[in-house]
Amino acid sequence: MIIYHLSTECYPVAKVGGLADVVGALPKYQNKINGIDAKVVMPWYNKPFVSDHEFDIVFDGFIHQGPNMLQVQVLKEKSDTLGFELYLVRIPGLLDRDNPYGYQDENFQFLGFQHGVLHWLSAMQIRPDVLHCHDYHTALVPFMVENCPEFSFLKGVKTIGTIHNGEYQGMMSWEMADYMPGFDRYRWGLLDWNGLINPLASMIKCAHSFTTVSQGYLEELFTTFRGLESLVRYESGKAYGIINGIDAEVWNPETDPMLDFNFNPKNAVVQKKKNKKNLCKAYGLRPELPLFAFIGRFATEKGADLLPDIVSRSIKQSFGGLNIMILGSGNSYIENKLKEYDYTYTNFALDLGYKEHLSHQIYASADFLLMPSRVEPCGLNQMYAMKYGTVPIVSYTGGLRDTVQDISTGGAGINFTYPGVDDIIHAISRALMLYNQKGMMENLVHANMGFDFAWEKSAEKYIALYNS
Ligand code: ADP
Ligand code: GLC
Repeated sequence: MIIYHLSTECYPVAKVGGLADVVGALPKYQNKINGIDAKVVMPWYNKPFVSDHEFDIVFDGFIHQGPNMLQVQVLKEKSDTLGFELYLVRIPGLLDRDNPYGYQDENFQFLGFQHGVLHWLSAMQIRPDVLHCHDYHTALVPFMVENCPEFSFLKGVKTIGTIHNGEYQGMMSWEMADYMPGFDRYRWGLLDWNGLINPLASMIKCAHSFTTVSQGYLEELFTTFRGLESLVRYESGKAYGIINGIDAEVWNPETDPMLDFNFNPKNAVVQKKKNKKNLCKAYGLRPELPLFAFIGRFATEKGADLLPDIVSRSIKQSFGGLNIMILGSGNSYIENKLKEYDYTYTNFALDLGYKEHLSHQIYASADFLLMPSRVEPCGLNQMYAMKYGTVPIVSYTGGLRDTVQDISTGGAGINFTYPGVDDIIHAISRALMLYNQKGMMENLVHANMGFDFAWEKSAEKYIALYNS
């Protein structure tokens, strides 16, 4: 069975968040299953991975985007070291950028990507068994395959869409229809939601099946989905929640080259302390105090707007009895407020930016990882933390509720119901009590490291879905 994963991110080529981790791991684990050939197609970016690797040009052609004629090149990575074939689609002016997101003309960018991929496959008469589309950037593919004469060669190919984040749906005005590949205008209803072209809604309507990255998140979408609640309920017969895994080849504290001190469950307590000592030294924190960490995008869905209050209140209320470290970037108000607190509080350390190495060191050093998310379709941070013996403190939502169980009900993490400062401060005070209880942290480190978030199980579930 031949599967093409279509995505704007893929680790280690280009990563903004968890989407990259998933698309860099899922095909690799699918390929370990007999008879499966999973490949990844993504836009070309001006990234170190691209300049450091060799590529063959396997396609060179043109598409029409409205009045513009665009060159489309497809490059295949030569060495095949990722565990799957990697294809990059390059369109000068649209798909030759430094980063996946943040451009004013993203509608043209993502339309160009989807159009370019389908044009290449049709022109080269490549007919996969499954096109697996990830998030709204590739969500018009199920519609295009069935309704654009240019891709009639692909008609009938099975399409699956995975919703990693339903907060972003890619809505655009109907004027953009003129920049899509020509389609049967009679079928406009399959693109429309409330008077706009809504790619995510179109994917839910047109894909043979769609998935979310946890069962808990799927259930939430029935009632909270930025206007698509009735649609997802109507189409629920073809909806599945499949939890993400973690890539044990990248995220393994025993072999992770990004750690100062590697560890396994037997020596974790001692080695984690050594990592913590180094990290605290580098950031002027006190290694004898518990270390709470946050890693992520400064977005309201992550509860990042609560961070400044969490920092100041938890440090004041514990009389300076804890360290907090934050790694991330995003909303500039949050960044500035945290910078101010970085000067005010010696127990607080801030690193603004995206730092893969540092994130690994934090998971390995921290005692607790904070995730005050309002929306969390799956969440990978909590799983990485647990694998690295760090206790997750998470809001009870989406994938967090599916992966972290509170210590009071037999789990090894801490849940709070409402992502508000009071509840989080309460959760932190529970964490401090655990920290001060003799032998408790050792038990929690071991228990968290023992959870199994292997990709193998979820990769099998996707294959079963393709087969069905
Ligand atoms: P999302 O994709 O919504 O941002 P996830 O929990 O699925 O959330 O995945 C986030 C991924 O991005 C994890 O691999 C996490 O370690 C990483 N990450 C987030 N922010 C940073 C950062 N500032 N530096 C390094 N890695 C980060
Ligand atoms: C999205 C979600 C996150 C999920 C990731 C990978 O970015 O916000 O919760 O873990 O996709 O599926």
